[in-house]
Amino acid sequence: MNVSEAIKVRRSIRKYKDVPVEPEKINAVLEAARLSPSARNRQEWMFYAVTDGKVKKAMCEGGASPFVAEAPVVLAVCAIGDRLMNCGHDVSSVDGSIAMSFAVLEATELGLGTCMIGSHDQKAVAKALGLSEEWKVPLLVTMGYPDETPEARPRKESAEVCKIL
Ligand SMILES: Cc1cc2nc3c(=O)[nH]c(=O)nc-3n(C[C@H](O)[C@H](O)[C@H](O)COP(=O)(O)O)c2cc1C
Repeated sequence: MNVSEAIKVRRSIRKYKDVPVEPEKINAVLEAARLSPSARNRQEWMFYAVTDGKVKKAMCEGGASPFVAEAPVVLAVCAIGDRLMNCGHDVSSVDGSIAMSFAVLEATELGLGTCMIGSHDQKAVAKALGLSEEWKVPLLVTMGYPDETPEARPRKESAEVCKIL
């Protein structure tokens, strides 16, 4: 599968087979996140892949939907620092989102399903991971072998949202 195909076949998956994800696949997904670009190449982040049931449950306290704790793997991107880019946006959420996009495309290539999660309580997640409260957690990603095959969700027409000037 090439990147273009992965972009097209990826769907958010919220039901997973009760099958563990092989460690080499987890490592490949973390590696994709590690290799992703970051503002000024600062890489002020940590990537976690959580398979421990108790830790996953604690990560869901105060927010994330119940299916998150049921996923075989929960990825978390954690970032430190309050830096803003010149454009006014914070580095941690932009860098973290890009890294998780790379991770999700790698997972798709490996036959894994994923769902990005922004409904979590980042303080609860930091605590569950043993990090201090200064760490931000802009995004979680659930991951595992899909147990559903959803249709592609609708997108706005390209004429509405894409312009070449
Ligand atoms: C930043 C972000 C946060 C999201 N948070 C959640 C979430 O908390 N819970 C959830 O079930 N899906 C979440 N999603 C998944 C979106 O609902 C999904 O990507 C969207 O409906 C499009 O569907 P698709 O991914 O299958 O194309 C999130 C997606 C993104 C990009």
